[in-house]
Amino acid sequence: EKGGYDHFMLKEIYEQPNAIKDTYRGRLGVKNGIIKMSGIDDNIEKFLNANRIIVVACGTSWHAGLVAEYIFEDLARIPVEVEYASEFRYRNPVITEKDVVIAISQSGETADTLAAIKLAKSKGAFVFGVCNVVGSSIARETHAGAYTHAGPEIGVASTKAFTTQITVLTLIALKLAKETGKINNTDYRYHLQELDLIPQKVVESLKSDSHIQMIADTYKNARNFLYLGRGYNFPVALEGALKLKEISYIHAEGYPAAEMKHGPIALIDEQMPVVVIATKKGHYDKIVSNIQEIKSRKGRIIGVVTEGDTSVKELVDHIIEVPETLESLTPLLTTIPLQLLSYHIAVMLNKNVDQPRNLAKSVTVE
Ligand code: F6R
Repeated sequence: EKGGYDHFMLKEIYEQPNAIKDTYRGRLGVKNGIIKMSGIDDNIEKFLNANRIIVVACGTSWHAGLVAEYIFEDLARIPVEVEYASEFRYRNPVITEKDVVIAISQSGETADTLAAIKLAKSKGAFVFGVCNVVGSSIARETHAGAYTHAGPEIGVASTKAFTTQITVLTLIALKLAKETGKINNTDYRYHLQELDLIPQKVVESLKSDSHIQMIADTYKNARNFLYLGRGYNFPVALEGALKLKEISYIHAEGYPAAEMKHGPIALIDEQMPVVVIATKKGHYDKIVSNIQEIKSRKGRIIGVVTEGDTSVKELVDHIIEVPETLESLTPLLTTIPLQLLSYHIAVMLNKNVDQPRNLAKSVTVE
């Protein structure tokens, strides 16, 4: 049942190229430039007239929501807020009929997310679900939705659910960007082509596995880890830290790289491994200077960079390469090595990778 892999988590990490393809199959028309998603098509006016989109989710799904915030605002110019479902539901939020709520959930059973949906519906908002489990409570409770089609995710630590959620949300953002005319046709077409290349690039990213295993061996006894990223890769840093915490029980924090100087930099010494996502896009120069700051405080740096990068290579202790892609699509690649790093560390520490202590696959308690 694990298909020759030692753990479901590893199997599911390796399933990502196909899972992502399954997510966009029948939806992404690269040749004709059409994105077909009935849940969006049937409710397009709701989206186009929305004052804003509010994303509600928990855990890894919340991180996918944060990535979506960057993509929606960047491409479709629709204001987005991303909320922890558990905070949203308990704080008397301002919601109107002009709001569109997107609820993201792998299991479709998360109690806090379900309660947030019910609250939003009671205020008249249109609620759209992004779920993996077909026929789940959240899928049934939402007005419309789009499934991720990732296939069953057994490992408690979410992997392919995350990348397929980002894929669905990217399709929605591109579709809305096209409808609103906020993206020009050339850029739009280019995005579709590049998205179609992602599965192959995930295959390439997975090839770093044995190299990552060596890095895992070097740092498996660290007590703390810091994960840094900027822009689209800030949520990836959060997700990398969450993955490490939940399966290896090593304390890890994800931070936007520029926030480091406002506090966490005090933690950095030669005992502190720092994973820095520094792909050659967006704020590359800024992140290179963040790396210099860490280096001058003797932090041990693991850089996740674009293939062929040379400037970061000179500064860091270890380098992990991912293929080049559009900035908005980099999370789909930079996430892969971070999943593998936490997996290998947890295995080396003899932890129960698929069923970490104190955690359940779906959190149906409030
Ligand atoms: C992390 C993880 C959890 C879930 C969270 C939400 O690896 O699995 O943080 O992401 O409990 O679950 P869903 O997406 O099922 O609502």
